[in-house]
Amino acid sequence: MNSKTNRAIGVFDSGIGGLTVVRSLMERLPFENIIYFGDSARVPYGIKSVDTINRYAAQITDFLIKKEVKLLIVACNTMAAVAHQTIADLSPVPILEVIDASARMAIQNTKNKSIGVIGTPATINSNAYTRAIHLLKKDVKVFSQACPLFVPLVEEGWFDHQATKLIAQEYLKPVIAEKIDTLVLGCTHYPLLKPLLQDIMGKGVNLIDSAEAMADIAANLIDEQKISNKNGLPPDYVFYVSDVPYRFQTIGERFLGRTLGHVELVSL
Ligand code: DGL
Repeated sequence: MNSKTNRAIGVFDSGIGGLTVVRSLMERLPFENIIYFGDSARVPYGIKSVDTINRYAAQITDFLIKKEVKLLIVACNTMAAVAHQTIADLSPVPILEVIDASARMAIQNTKNKSIGVIGTPATINSNAYTRAIHLLKKDVKVFSQACPLFVPLVEEGWFDHQATKLIAQEYLKPVIAEKIDTLVLGCTHYPLLKPLLQDIMGKGVNLIDSAEAMADIAANLIDEQKISNKNGLPPDYVFYVSDVPYRFQTIGERFLGRTLGHVELVSL
């Protein structure tokens, strides 16, 4: 068995979107081993029922715990929104999730106390962001908008496509009307649309990317718990997926910002 500090950080998502979180972790914590699981056979989760999302989240947690990870990072807003308790009940190691990380960053950024949140229907319907933000600060107005078409557009690699722009303008119209100054990208796929979304929202609106927020929080926790990897070896990165869809490699590498390397197919 690995000594506790040498063990990997387990990161998971419904698909490849969570690689935006992995990318930030690699930059912020360059000596940590990472095991990633992306449920590419069953993505998208954001339009599925709460029961189904909980069942899938339990299977993934079980898989990563068996890999003896030292920390679990839920890099999927949808699972964090509706399956947090299921994951917590199964995990003997600390858990970090993107919603809390982004809520903290949004509160730090807003000046006019009006925050917008965009996410999958499951995330928005759960009200998890509004709750997380109000738990930190009560007198903030939160305006939420589900954007169900964004995930397939990103999976297709249409980050800057005219069709994506039209759809984004339609989704963001009511958000712009609320005069928010901070917009939470409440889905791990959305950071890939950042330039397009910034363009539509205007320069005055801060876009909150949960991937960046998460890397800082993970670094603090590893430091506090004294579990940083000190073996001095180059880190190991292993990517497990439940399917290797068409164009997986190219889209995955755009999410990660480098070559994907070792990808293994598993069924849960
Ligand atoms: N990665 C998921 C999230 O962050 C979105 C993709 C999906 O619908 O499965 O919410």
